[in-house]
Amino acid sequence: MDTKKLLAKEKKYCSWGDTVHYLEPPKFFDRCEGSTLYDKEGRKFLDLQMWYSAASFGYANPRLAAALKKQIDKLPQLACQYLHEEKVELAEKIAKSMERLFGEKGRVHFNVGGSQAVEDSLKLVRNHTGKNFVFAFMGGYHGRTLGASAITSSYRYRRRFGHFSDRAQFVPYPYCYRCPYGKKYPDCGMYCVKQFEKLFETEYNGVWDAKAEASEYAAFYVEAIQGTGGYVIPPKEYFPMLRKILDRHKILMVDDEIQMGFHRAGKLWALANFNVTPDIVVFGKALTNGLNPLSGIWAKEKLINPKVFPAGSTHSTFSSNTLGTAVGLEVMKLCEESNYEKTVTQKGKALLSRFKSLQKKYPKVIGDVNGMGLALRVEIVKPDGYAPDRTLADRIFAEGMKGDIQTQKGRFGLVLDVGGYYKNVFTIAPSFGITEDEMDLAIELFEQLVRRCTKKR
Ligand SMILES: Cc1ncc(COP(=O)(O)O)c(C=O)c1O
Repeated sequence: MDTKKLLAKEKKYCSWGDTVHYLEPPKFFDRCEGSTLYDKEGRKFLDLQMWYSAASFGYANPRLAAALKKQIDKLPQLACQYLHEEKVELAEKIAKSMERLFGEKGRVHFNVGGSQAVEDSLKLVRNHTGKNFVFAFMGGYHGRTLGASAITSSYRYRRRFGHFSDRAQFVPYPYCYRCPYGKKYPDCGMYCVKQFEKLFETEYNGVWDAKAEASEYAAFYVEAIQGTGGYVIPPKEYFPMLRKILDRHKILMVDDEIQMGFHRAGKLWALANFNVTPDIVVFGKALTNGLNPLSGIWAKEKLINPKVFPAGSTHSTFSSNTLGTAVGLEVMKLCEESNYEKTVTQKGKALLSRFKSLQKKYPKVIGDVNGMGLALRVEIVKPDGYAPDRTLADRIFAEGMKGDIQTQKGRFGLVLDVGGYYKNVFTIAPSFGITEDEMDLAIELFEQLVRRCTKKR
């Protein structure tokens, strides 16, 4: 069926409550491979965001697709009240990876989708502490179920849905390029984390009962690198300092690795770049390279052992489904065999240096450029070189989706994702398989988009 007819049907029969209509008209795709998406008309699009890091190992990855096909022929479905081999093997691999990187023993519990795993982590926190207030970061994103929305910073996601009695207390994130306190790193002396510490100085700051030595807040939800918040990378001292404050006040640290996990920031778990150990880890997205909505939580043994978190504490019909666990297991094997820590870091540096060259050429368009692993950020700014330019970012994004940029390698589109506090940041998350040629193409396409969109500025 042609695109026009499909669009007419979509207009009539599909809810617009998802994110499809962020772009008008929305875009259909028909095929995908490696770093490339193809539309129905056969146009090619280089993808620099890989489904917000859910397809990190490349579209239609043959090894992962084969694992899925094999499972379809062997054990395509099974009620998750029964066991199957891949579930147990996958849980072991994840638990052992936590032991290796964080030095802690624990267990894994699966669910479907990131937000649902966040919900499960909230249950663990409540179960362990008996409390339901948590801290989370300004600029943080943890999903759009009701519980996850309550700890996600954007009021936009809560506004029409009534009162959120357990909405998180949001704390400024160390976003140094636009420091919430107007300071400059490193002269700031980590002012932000010291401000957080001050909350516990007196009971009149509303979080701490000094007599009982108890906090009203059970946990702090963190993203090691903010995803939707614009791939913001904190200074290396931040998390170790924060962890000490949390330990002193018996507050758990929950590490949301849904977007940055599975090597996006170099190491398997992004928080491992910062030398701190979380109490709970939440993961999803790239666990199955987007082939199945499997997600999960890992927690320290004391939080999740069967005595404290017994049968039926949380459940979904599709959690630990056989197809998802088979692909997840293959992803973990791929990670063990591939040394992504090294290759993702090297490729990230290569791409970052190309974007930095572009920034030098266009200082009135590109502000901050930074990255860790293959999680890169490119801030689009006004001609003063600093003020966020959301309109231009939107225009570049929309132009990229047209698929009509003539390059030395033929006609292409460029798939980008816009994020950040001011919606002016391209959050760049390419496939781990991106080649040097594709990096050159990415820069050629991005530069052409910048030129095209700043003509009438
Ligand atoms: C850090 C983080 N947490 C949670 C979520 C929610 O995951 P899902 O969209 O699978 O519900 C996302 C999704 O973008 C995310 O990036």
